[in-house]
Amino acid sequence: LTSEGGVLEVELEMAEREVRVGDVTARLLTYNGTVPGPTLLLRPGDTLRVRLVNRLDDVTNLHVHGLHVSPEGNSDNPFLAIGPGESFDYEIVLPDDHPAGTLWYHPHHHGMVADQMFTGLYGAIVVEDDLPAGRVLVVSDISLTEDGGVRQVSQPERMMGREGETVLVNGQVRPRITAAPGERQRWRVVNACTSRHLRLELEGQEVTVLGVDLGREAEPTPFGDLLLAPGNRADLLVTAAEGAATLRALPHERGGMMGMMGGATASSEPVTLATLEVAGTPAEPPEELPPAGAVRDLRDVEPAARRTLTFTMGMGGGRGPGGMTFGFDGRGFDAERTDQDVAAGTVEEWVIDNPTPMDHPFHLHVWPMQVVEAAGATVGPPTWRDVVTVPAGSRVVVRVPFEDLTGRTVYHCHILDHEDAGMMGVVDVR
Ligand code: C2O
Ligand code: CU
Ligand code: CU
Repeated sequence: LTSEGGVLEVELEMAEREVRVGDVTARLLTYNGTVPGPTLLLRPGDTLRVRLVNRLDDVTNLHVHGLHVSPEGNSDNPFLAIGPGESFDYEIVLPDDHPAGTLWYHPHHHGMVADQMFTGLYGAIVVEDDLPAGRVLVVSDISLTEDGGVRQVSQPERMMGREGETVLVNGQVRPRITAAPGERQRWRVVNACTSRHLRLELEGQEVTVLGVDLGREAEPTPFGDLLLAPGNRADLLVTAAEGAATLRALPHERGGMMGMMGGATASSEPVTLATLEVAGTPAEPPEELPPAGAVRDLRDVEPAARRTLTFTMGMGGGRGPGGMTFGFDGRGFDAERTDQDVAAGTVEEWVIDNPTPMDHPFHLHVWPMQVVEAAGATVGPPTWRDVVTVPAGSRVVVRVPFEDLTGRTVYHCHILDHEDAGMMGVVDVR
């Protein structure tokens, strides 16, 4: 769905529908009857008007993950609760200088996010640049029962962050992608899994990472080093070489509970996501890419404030699964409480500290972040991220330009079982 005259108006009806997944007819939650929901194509400066119609049995809302837009009113407001049978009209205005990139949408009602997303509620958003938009590959995972229902998730799975048994690309099991030899295709990969991290592999093919989350990288991350946490997106250029290849997700160890709960988090086998078949008449050699524009370097800015946010997981007495406490700085989420007061118009430095035995992907709404230090080393050149994994027992330092837009929103772990268990805080910028 593409904007016209600077406006994209769309109705998104959320309802349970029968959807074909592999050879199973599954009953999933859908936007407009499909999994994933429709892709929304936008340009900087556009207005996105969404009528969200809730035909689910539960409360929900809409979050446009990664968009730099107001977090308040009827914009990207994570505190809204839209009840069953209700609808809500969102108006989301992108600034004229909004960065291009791959973004996505999903529900965000605290306590229901992981379950609703795991059952099929996600879709892609593309803020276009001057290159062709390419193809979107939304990766998700799900566990289905034989009769097409979604399998119940156990308490230990919620503690670790559930990983679905079946990995889907655009709602399909191992779809086939075709290309002509020498053809260059742009793949926008969205990690819409609840907890699964994706270390991608496409053997025998030339893959360039144009960017991760937002914008282009001046010095692209080597494809082999790319790790997409839940919520991250990759903008890839694949130059197809004759033959067949599989796009796979390699196993990734994301920590555990130090034997307390048993159960490892790593999917121990590589998973095939899609196949690429390259045959036919060779394509014309692709045009040279325009160079990536310079990205403002926040390492040159003296932060107006520094603060530390610490991921915490505690045993017993908590409201999370197994009576555990999931939170930041020893406390769980409270929508009424503001955890971080930020002065609008300033750049801040946030130290995201993770003393727990598990990796946690840190996500901040509305304001993109620049990583300046990870694993004790400085990081550069600058790029914009909205989900940053903080490995177990380490810390990541980010800088955030809270320079335009004001309002109250959230930051959280994007392992959505952790977010639902309370690993979320409130930031108020004014
Ligand atoms: Cu994609 Cu607050 O989340
Ligand atoms: Cu988000
Ligand atoms: Cu987490």
